[in-house]
Amino acid sequence: MPAPNPLLIVYHSQSGSCAKIAHAAYQGACSEASVAVRVLRAWDACTADLTGAGGLLLVAAENSGALSGGMKDFLDRTFYPAIAADLVLPYALLLSAGNDGRGAKQQAQRILSGYSFPAATEPVILRGEVCPAHLEKAGELGAAFVAGLVMGIF
Ligand SMILES: Cc1cc2nc3c(=O)[nH]c(=O)nc-3n(C[C@H](O)[C@H](O)[C@H](O)COP(=O)(O)O)c2cc1C
Repeated sequence: MPAPNPLLIVYHSQSGSCAKIAHAAYQGACSEASVAVRVLRAWDACTADLTGAGGLLLVAAENSGALSGGMKDFLDRTFYPAIAADLVLPYALLLSAGNDGRGAKQQAQRILSGYSFPAATEPVILRGEVCPAHLEKAGELGAAFVAGLVMGIF
């Protein structure tokens, strides 16, 4: 069986919290040797990165009740090109929030439904300061995502 296309992790982080979460997800995803994993900052990622991917994990924060601006910018930039290319990518969302996260979740899901991207898992909201439990959860999600890609279940 050919190896699945890489898992692409795209993150936006203002203070470093989401960067830590994205790194933990990366480490979990690397548990599956047959799947390559790429990590890109949202500012550096573009449509070509989506085209070569087999799955997309987005890591971002809730800012002022909405998805963080850097992640919104990435989605804004890739929206029309992804639709034009008929891209279909299973996605997962890891959101960091002080005490809520629902606004970011709702906005991200709404935007991603426009891409025709199927959700691989329910979005995960990690509330409060980043802690070991958050990193563990992120690692588990990364591992589960690549396992699903290998099994071809998305
Ligand atoms: C400008 C700003 C606005 C924020 N707004 C919210 C918010 O609306 N809801 C919430 O739960 N947390 C909010 N937070 C907290 C962040 O979501 C949280 O600190 C997150 O871990 C930040 O991750 P990052 O610094 O890696 O981007 C806000 C933080 C900042 C700096």
